[in-house]
Order: sequence, then C-alpha cells, then structure tokens
Amino acid sequence: MLSNLKPQAPDSILKLIEEFKADTRQGKIDLGVGVYKDPQGVTPVMRAVKAAEQRIWETQTTKAYTGLAGEPEYRNAMARMVLKDVPGDRLASLATVGGTGAIRQALELARLANPGATVYVSNPTWPNHLSIMKFMGLPFVEYRYFDAETRGVDFDGLKADIARAGKGDIVLLHGCCHNPTGANLSMEQWDEVAAILEKSGAIPLIDLAYQGFGDGLEEDAAATRMIAQRLPEVLIAASCSKNFGIYRERTGILFALAENTAARDLAQGSMAFLNRQNYSFPPDHGARVVSTILTDDALRADWAAELEEVRNTMLGLRSQLASELRDLSGSDRFDFIGQHRGMFSRLGATPEQVAKLKSDAAIYMVGDSRLNIAGLNQHTVPVLARAIIDAGI
Ligand code: LMR
Repeated sequence: MLSNLKPQAPDSILKLIEEFKADTRQGKIDLGVGVYKDPQGVTPVMRAVKAAEQRIWETQTTKAYTGLAGEPEYRNAMARMVLKDVPGDRLASLATVGGTGAIRQALELARLANPGATVYVSNPTWPNHLSIMKFMGLPFVEYRYFDAETRGVDFDGLKADIARAGKGDIVLLHGCCHNPTGANLSMEQWDEVAAILEKSGAIPLIDLAYQGFGDGLEEDAAATRMIAQRLPEVLIAASCSKNFGIYRERTGILFALAENTAARDLAQGSMAFLNRQNYSFPPDHGARVVSTILTDDALRADWAAELEEVRNTMLGLRSQLASELRDLSGSDRFDFIGQHRGMFSRLGATPEQVAKLKSDAAIYMVGDSRLNIAGLNQHTVPVLARAIIDAGI
C-alpha cells in the first residue's frame, strides 16, 4: 500500500529551512520562515511566558482532558484580545492546533455549512492557504492584491475581484501584516471591503496571525473589530505563535460570529465536532500560558511591553534597510520597505535574482522574494542592501 504513495511537493517555506541548515558558509543569513529573532539571532521565550509556565507548573494539579472546544478562560481571554467588545450571544469559539489548525477548521466549518462555497483568496497569499484548500478539494479563486509596480495594494483590482464572491462564498482576508507581501489596507479601504461584503452576503474569513507585529496590538485588530461589528457572519482564525512567541506549542483559535444565538449554538456544536473528528481535544499548555498572561494585569503589561520591543525592533530594521537602499540605489524605489508592516516584505525580485542572493551572498528568502525582516539585525542590514543592489534588483 505505502509504495503507492506519490512524493508530495515540499512546502516552499519549510524547504528553505533545510537548505539553510545544510549551507556551510560563514555569515549566511536566514530571511525565510516567519520566526522572530532578536539581534543575537535567538528566538527568545518571552518573559511573561516563562513566568506563566512557572505559575502553571506550581499550581497545576491535573493533566486530564480540557473541554473539547478548549478551556473557556482561554477562549474568553482571546475573544477580548481580538475583538475587545465581545458579542457573547453571537460568538462561538474553538481552541485549535495553532493558527493553521484554525484556518483548517474554518474551511471545514464553511464546507459543512455551505458545501458549494468558493473561497476567494489574495494573490499572493501564504502558500499553505492554497495547499490546504487544494488538499481539501475546495474550489477557490484568487483576487488581485499586490501591485508589482508600487509594491502596495492593487485596491481597485481587489474590489473588482471580491465583488464577484456570491452569498455564502468565503473571502479570506489577512487581518493585518499581510503574508507574504507586507502591504496592507488602510482603514478607509477596509470600510469599502466591508461594504462590498455587506452587499453580496459573502463571508469574511480573517486570518489574524500577527496581531501586535504591525502598528500595535489594538491597531492591528481594528479592521477585524470593525468587520465583526458590521457583518452578520464572520470567521476569524487567530494565532498566538508569533505574538506570544510560542510557535511550537501550537496555540490558535477560531471564532465564528453568527447571525443570532441559535446559529451560534449550531456553530459551536459543529466546531467542537470538528475538533473531535480531527484530533479530539486541542493542546492545552500554550492556551493556558496565554490565558494566564491575559488575565493577570502584571503579566499582561510585561508581555505587551516585550511585544512592543519586538515590534519596534522590526520597524527599526525596516527604516534602516530602506535608508541603506536609498543611499546605495540613489533612488526612493525601496521606500516601500519602510511602509510595509509585519514580519514580511515582498521585494518584487525575480526568482533568478532570489537564487543569486542565495548563491552569491548566502542570503535565503522565499522564492517569491518574501523576506523576513525579523531575520535581520543592524549588522546584516547593510550586507543585505549591498547584495540586493549587486543582484540587480
Ligand atoms: C511563515 O509564513 O513563514 C509562517 O507562517 C510559518 C509557516 O508555518 O509557514
């Protein structure tokens, strides 16, 4: 039986991790997978996470199963963090295996509710969005998103394309810090998106994997909150991997905002059912760390302060890179790097130029020229800037 299997195409982001590891060159630079690294190149355990883990270790008396949908403390704390004003009578929630698990369960839920739904997805998007939909056999179409000239959002293209989504179709949107481009909508543009969805009855699925990495914890959730206030039905897949730095704990959450309480109860039941079918109970450790932090004023304040340090470090690197490139190129054509937000920016280089960065300068970025800003430090920024110019980008 097993010899009938076909080789699976490797994930482009994960493949890069292996290639980077195998490279023996001194001074190699990893700008691939979206993991935050401090200026010493370390992905630290955040102070509040350590403190919460200690507290859990000292007080936890059982490792018996959690609730099938996860612990209410976690789900409530996350609802307040993401939505602030929680419409409790309309909100269903589900602890999931990371943000990826939340996306997968959201798509499963959409298919259960509307087997004919088409998913509208930005071009480009996180490659695993496409891979999961292909694997599930879900029909999807891409909407225009990135303007290759300006490296900003092609908003007219986006509006025209998402207006084609019909009632009950799903429109997958990145709540902030678009992955892979780093180009984001303004609040005025989000308002226009909400109006299009209000008119058509298409349902937004918001992927919120980087809250706190763009303009701030509250600012990065503003679009999601506005959509949740305006539209009758909304799906939100949020991740704690990045903003709590607990990547390997696989801590995510799916919210389903329903039209009324009866529909909320149906959604809640189906979501718990989906957990049971896929992996039964969700992992608890990361979720407990998050709820411990979010429900304790001192821990929360310390976590928020460290998250701000992380965000400001990335913003500093963005400005430094944009300014190095302005000097080296004698032009402002790289200023978009300073305007993008989140971990990533799409440079707009060709695959050949990306390959040249790898072969000539041992600089690794995803083939579509997505670079992870957090993989840089103030010493490697000039190295990257020089290599970008040398590669003819
Ligand atoms: C990324 O885009 O690099 C991250 O979301 C990590 C992943 O799982 O791909």
